[in-house]
Amino acid sequence: MCGIMGYLGGRDTVEVLLEGLRRLEYRGYDSAGVAVLVDGKVEVVKAKGKISVLAEVLKKGKPEGSVGIGHTRWATHGPPSTKNAHPHPDCEGHIAVVHNGIVENYLELREKLQAEGHTFRSETDTETLAHLFEKYYDGNLEKAVRRGLKDVKGSYAVVAVSDRDPGVLVAARQYSPLIVGLGEKTGENFVASDPSAILPFTRKAYLIDNGEMVVLTKDRVEVKTLAGKAVKKRVFHIEWDAEMAEKGGHKHFMIKEILEQPHALRQTIGERISGRGPELHLEELHLTDAYLRRVKKIVIIACGTASYAGMAGQYAVEKLCGVPVIVDVASELQYRECVFDKDTLGIAISQSGETADTLQAMRMARRRGAKLLAVTNVIGSTVARDADGVLYIHAGPEIGVASTKAYTSQVLAMLLFCVHLGVVRGAIKPAAARRLLRGIKRLPDQAQEFLDGQAGHVERLAKKYKNVMRYLYLGRGAHYCTAMEGALKIKEIAYLDAEGYAAGEMKHGPLALVTDEVAIMSAVIEGPHYQKSIGNLQEIRARAGKVIAVANEGDEEIQKYADDVIRIPKTEEALSSVLAGIPMQLYAYHVADLWDREIDQPRNLAKSVTVE
Ligand code: G6P
Repeated sequence: MCGIMGYLGGRDTVEVLLEGLRRLEYRGYDSAGVAVLVDGKVEVVKAKGKISVLAEVLKKGKPEGSVGIGHTRWATHGPPSTKNAHPHPDCEGHIAVVHNGIVENYLELREKLQAEGHTFRSETDTETLAHLFEKYYDGNLEKAVRRGLKDVKGSYAVVAVSDRDPGVLVAARQYSPLIVGLGEKTGENFVASDPSAILPFTRKAYLIDNGEMVVLTKDRVEVKTLAGKAVKKRVFHIEWDAEMAEKGGHKHFMIKEILEQPHALRQTIGERISGRGPELHLEELHLTDAYLRRVKKIVIIACGTASYAGMAGQYAVEKLCGVPVIVDVASELQYRECVFDKDTLGIAISQSGETADTLQAMRMARRRGAKLLAVTNVIGSTVARDADGVLYIHAGPEIGVASTKAYTSQVLAMLLFCVHLGVVRGAIKPAAARRLLRGIKRLPDQAQEFLDGQAGHVERLAKKYKNVMRYLYLGRGAHYCTAMEGALKIKEIAYLDAEGYAAGEMKHGPLALVTDEVAIMSAVIEGPHYQKSIGNLQEIRARAGKVIAVANEGDEEIQKYADDVIRIPKTEEALSSVLAGIPMQLYAYHVADLWDREIDQPRNLAKSVTVE
């Protein structure tokens, strides 16, 4: 993970770097640093902690110059410390580098470089890059970087600065994301991990591909392959605006993003459902009807929250289209030797579009002949570029590390895909498709209805149960994913013990955990599994567990089996997973806030995990 940023131009370089790094902070936030060329010397300032700590340190002495690089770190090699923070200089301090990724052969390289006389000051894999560039430097930074990277195995987005090449930044990419921001005014350019960092300054960008490097000056950007061949790039216009990535008066990004869900869902639907029918248009998938009819199996490739959105898709596709679907976390899929062939469709779901495990599993699926569809939020991300077709969720920038609006938009996108697949294969009849599409179109308003009517109630419940330290989250069918996602949310932001379970599994173990100190959050939505879910609640209450049920409006029965009820609007069972996710997020948010947790940046986590 980690976020990197580089700037050349006439603005206050340190301020530009800090602004960019703040926007990249979701990628890692255990230490940070900048390197600026000042009067022909590379000056490095680093600090352990968040960007705000670095900003304080910089107030005491800010390096002034027109070329600089910066980094926000999520530790992989070596604990968070000032010493291990980037930028890392070479022996003489002529070169400094920032890096996102992992140098896999760093031990071997380090030993070799040490034997050749290089002195290492940190425990990081990144420092080997600085020494490699130093080793191969013969008067040209670009050449040194190109030669140095030949020795490197692993992943990198790296930016290097040298005091002997003033006015130049050299960047390169292999597997970790990298984007160039082209100055709106002449005389400045940017390089960063992703578009959010450059949003306040420019919307014009080049998306850098694997195996490419960039030489930047304030007036020129040259993109080449790592072998040195010139590459012609198209200018990419970033659609998000800077304000979308601001808190807009809210205490945390997470609550802003929870409340934004009606809008995000509307954006996901966009023009895709139209007409009086209504009809669904998903030409963007780039998967022909003939191919979709031939598909024998779907494998969903995703991590964390995105994998739970995949579970919602799995339930809908199996139920409504009759196509077998496998979901496993991408990090495990690779080891399962999952069978992919030309009749297997791999669907990669990823908010950031840069998750290393997801990308790696996609590559495996591709090698084995599968076609790939990406469901992602970030336009031009690697997941999008590595797939045959893309379904963008258009949820807008999601900054809070715990995914919220991206989750519900991913679930909705999977429902759209499901209807398309079912119609093409004749498994969903036209009348049923129209009914489903009308139901999907109502979801944004229903999400709003829920937030308007129940948000205060959920906050009160969070207060009531504030001292509960252990949770079980239960759900069946379309709501197994809701249980898993609900448990993940409260774990990651409130740091409370929580397990998500298929409700039917309670009797096979977790029931032993139930005491009067445990709260059970259960999605009991009307549908084929309703009575069985009620049965589970009875078993729990017989053992003194406290039950908070997420149930439909108008369901009177549920009162008898739950201590408290959160109501969501009624919709078709297959669509209800979109709505049921929202109370889970809101509850976790308020509990975490009562515990005064660092909600947008929970400890040890990062939003975009670009290491395997
Ligand atoms: C990290 C984040 C999660 C996210 C997961 C997958 O673990 O903390 O919130 O669900 O990565 O991220 P992606 O960008 O691929 O959806």
